[in-house]
Amino acid sequence: MIALLLLVLALSSHNEAANILYAIPFTSKSHNIMLRPIGLELARRGHNVTMITGYEEFDTPPNFHQVVADNTTIWEATGTGRPNVFTTVDNTPEEFHHQLLWKGNLAQTEISLKSPEVQKFLQKDNQYDLVISELFFQEATYMLAHKYNAPLILVTTYGNCMKHNMLVRNPLQLASVLPEFIRVEEPSSFWGRLRSLYFTCYDYVWWRYWYLNKQAELAKKYIPNLKEPMPSLIEMQRNASLVLVNSHFTFDGPMALLPNIIEVGGLHFKESTKPLPKDLQKAMDSAKHGVVYMNFGSNVRSSELSKEKKDAFLKVFGQLKQTVLWKWEEDDLPNKPDNVIIKKWMPQKDILSHPNVKVFIAHGGLIGMQEAIYHGVPVLGVPIYGDQFNNLLTAKQQGFGNILDYHDINEQNIAALLHDMLKDRSYKDKAEEISRRFLDRPVSALDTAMFWIEYVIRHKGAEFIKNPAARLSWIEYNMLDVYAFVLAIAAAAVLAIVKVAMGLQKVFTLSKIDSRKKKHH
Ligand SMILES: *[C@@H]1O[C@H](CO)[C@@H](O)[C@H](O)[C@H]1NC(C)=O
Ligand SMILES: *[C@@H]1O[C@H](CO)[C@@H](O)[C@H](O)[C@H]1NC(C)=O
Ligand SMILES: *[C@@H]1O[C@H](CO)[C@@H](O)[C@H](O)[C@H]1NC(C)=O
Repeated sequence: MIALLLLVLALSSHNEAANILYAIPFTSKSHNIMLRPIGLELARRGHNVTMITGYEEFDTPPNFHQVVADNTTIWEATGTGRPNVFTTVDNTPEEFHHQLLWKGNLAQTEISLKSPEVQKFLQKDNQYDLVISELFFQEATYMLAHKYNAPLILVTTYGNCMKHNMLVRNPLQLASVLPEFIRVEEPSSFWGRLRSLYFTCYDYVWWRYWYLNKQAELAKKYIPNLKEPMPSLIEMQRNASLVLVNSHFTFDGPMALLPNIIEVGGLHFKESTKPLPKDLQKAMDSAKHGVVYMNFGSNVRSSELSKEKKDAFLKVFGQLKQTVLWKWEEDDLPNKPDNVIIKKWMPQKDILSHPNVKVFIAHGGLIGMQEAIYHGVPVLGVPIYGDQFNNLLTAKQQGFGNILDYHDINEQNIAALLHDMLKDRSYKDKAEEISRRFLDRPVSALDTAMFWIEYVIRHKGAEFIKNPAARLSWIEYNMLDVYAFVLAIAAAAVLAIVKVAMGLQKVFTLSKIDSRKKKHH
């Protein structure tokens, strides 16, 4: 009787709760902000979640397990240390990939995989119903799905990119969908599209024929007990059941997406429940003319601005009627005007939710942009690297943002842009309109992600949702063989017609000559 009861319990729990491995070892604070709610929410729903992460969670439920990987950052991993990020502002996206993304992520992936806790975990004889992995530059972790013979779900922390389009065979849409890392003012102009094509080819060739091989070597070296034959990482990615993308068409623009590419932009939003620290609350409440909030995110430190640029901000801020909150990473800010409040860390969500915030001066990272959108706050952005320029360009085109190029930072330019944005009501109106659009969905972003993850679990990998085109070769998928055949037939037909015409012409001229000859006689 008891055995039967246990069996029933085991079966029912098996149906409801899955054993999920969530591998997100990449150590970037902003990636973690977006990714952690997925693991925590899965656990809240009763799944047995095991998260491989560089950022340990505390106060977790008993069905939430952690494998804490080494938290060395990508900058430290490259061996060069963290540079003054402002010095990288002129790097091309190609240089950005070579110097940081590829080099740093190979090193960082290796450091994560060989962390003692991760190695100890991988030696154990665990079983998982599902592996979820971040789609960034740690593709070696996809091999965990092969190790545990489980379906694979990928999550990106940023919007569109070549990789998720190309690999699950979503149309690339190069004319309208920009690679996230390039910097062009007019994406759909001829030069914009040419740049987009060039970068996509460059990125693809290096990534597919060099980077992925390196990642596969890491998987082989550090993930024990991989069954032969080992699939390639391309095959692993192509066979992913689902790709969750941190975008939403109301901000990122509409594009064609397969049914297994799901937009979950904004899933990290939560109503702010914690009150602001007392001093900030008081300062913000009493700011009659509003608040300007400046924060360049977790990676870019405003304290590393050059002296002239720092002074330019201070001069302009000092002349404002508004209160300024500035995330400043040092103890002291010389010549700080009285209306400027500095703190090494700012509770961003809670600040942005305050009705008195007028403008957010930011670097354009996607997480911060989404928080500004959520709260309907206009953004003045200084893009430094990655997708920041494109996020800000989108905000500018939509009428709730402006771009201040790093090299153009001076008193005059800051004042002109800031005064314009503080005076012109249209920025705020637009920001609020985008906010309403972004949040107007049948279900919240996090619940959308949960629905589709559980959908894949219920349908055991949901083989049927995968694009059948993924199984075709590149030639078949692009119809090149068929086009070549049609062209050959058309060419043959044209050739035949030309031949016949030439033949007829010959006959005709001969008969003309003939008839002339006859006349002469
Ligand atoms: C839950 O996951 C942990 C860690 O991966 C594992 O040790 C444990 O056996 C799992 N529990 C169940 C009920 O599957
Ligand atoms: C990295 O982990 C160590 C403990 O292993 C911890 O003391 C440190 O605060 C962590 N660093 C970050 C940036 O999370
Ligand atoms: C693709 O994934 C499914 C599980 O979702 C698995 O059964 C299948 O073997 C995989 N195919 C390849 C070619 O890896």
